[in-house]
Amino acid sequence: MLNGKNILLGVTGSIAVYKAVEIARRLTEDGANVTVVMTESACRFVSPTTFEAVSGRPVYTNLFEGYFRHINLVKESHLLIVAPATANTISKFACGIADNLLSTTYLVYEGPVLIAPAMNSRMYKKPVVQKNIKELAKSGIIFIGPESGKLACGEDGIGRMAEVSDIIESVKSALTTKDLTGHNILVTAGPTRESIDPIRFLSNRSSGKMGFAIATAAHRRGAKATLISGPAALKPPDGVSFIPVDNADDMRAAVLRNFYKSTSVIMAAAVCDFAPSVTSKSKIPKINNLTINLKETPDILKEIGRKKGKRFLIGFAAETGMNIQRAKEKLRDKNLDLIVLNDVTQKGAGFDFDTNIATIITRKGEITELPLMKKEDLANIILDRMLQLSPKKNP
Ligand code: PMT
Repeated sequence: MLNGKNILLGVTGSIAVYKAVEIARRLTEDGANVTVVMTESACRFVSPTTFEAVSGRPVYTNLFEGYFRHINLVKESHLLIVAPATANTISKFACGIADNLLSTTYLVYEGPVLIAPAMNSRMYKKPVVQKNIKELAKSGIIFIGPESGKLACGEDGIGRMAEVSDIIESVKSALTTKDLTGHNILVTAGPTRESIDPIRFLSNRSSGKMGFAIATAAHRRGAKATLISGPAALKPPDGVSFIPVDNADDMRAAVLRNFYKSTSVIMAAAVCDFAPSVTSKSKIPKINNLTINLKETPDILKEIGRKKGKRFLIGFAAETGMNIQRAKEKLRDKNLDLIVLNDVTQKGAGFDFDTNIATIITRKGEITELPLMKKEDLANIILDRMLQLSPKKNP
């Protein structure tokens, strides 16, 4: 999603500079053109050569090398991010001091600015630093972090630079058009676990990645997103209302509680179709040829399909084979507006991969076959399709 985006990354003198190398690497890997501007103190921690190697572009450190460098650097830049940002640089920005390449570049720049502070907690809490941060925030600058924890100096407190993944997410969010503002999107993800006894359960291979990607993309695009997820080893996306559940009954209850306020529902969860008829209260002893009777779990999507009103309903069909006919039957049976078919036997598709290969089928029978792509990109294509077919926000 960062393809063709020109990002200026300002790096100032903090021990967290080494994490900025990872920021430059990740943004570059996601397709952005990253131009790094370092202060003199930043160069004492990590050499510009390291940033040149990861960004594949020249790194700038000196205001007086080149012709109107600060003016030229901001041309065609989509975003300026300063990470790590010291108390010194933050305070210079707030006071309009322009005494190096980064601070002059900041003064010239008129686009969106993100700042990720990093410093000792006493420096961070100093009233003058807080006043400067508030001034900058008032003028529209977005602050990410800092976080609390162990600091480089050995003290505990607030001042650690935000996690790289949170900084990347903030960059993506700042560069995303908020075309889903006013939408209230309910997403399900992950597997469900149906208990056999207090120790064992029936489940499936869903990691939650597909549903988490959809909720993240919806939030980035300005929607209110609620994510109901079965057990998954993923960090809940920032800004998304997150509801963890365990089994199909829990997921049904959570979906029904949140359904009425939603404008659309996207069910990427792999709800177990069967659960043990009886859950043993104690551990079942080891015996040969144990038989477990199964009962059907509630079909959540079918139930909300009956009550959908004007909400836009999207289901997924996990098939072993590109069975378009079965996906169409599921779309009709569950009264959906759109279904995303994935053949989970294909390499790179379905369970646990970071990628998927999907075919989108609409209620009118339009079929769009998509190539292998990141789940993040598929999430955006699904949301684009939803927006095309249902631009209205009210259920
Ligand atoms: O989580 P990942 O590792 O990223 O993997 C992604 C995925 C493969 C789980 C995802 O892309 C996917 O296909 N999700 C749907 C899995 C599934 O249960 O498919 P289904 O064809 O069995 O169900 C059809 C639809 O009905 C689904 O939207 C499902 O959420 C819903 N359903 C199913 C059973 C049930 N009891 N209640 C339901 O609501």
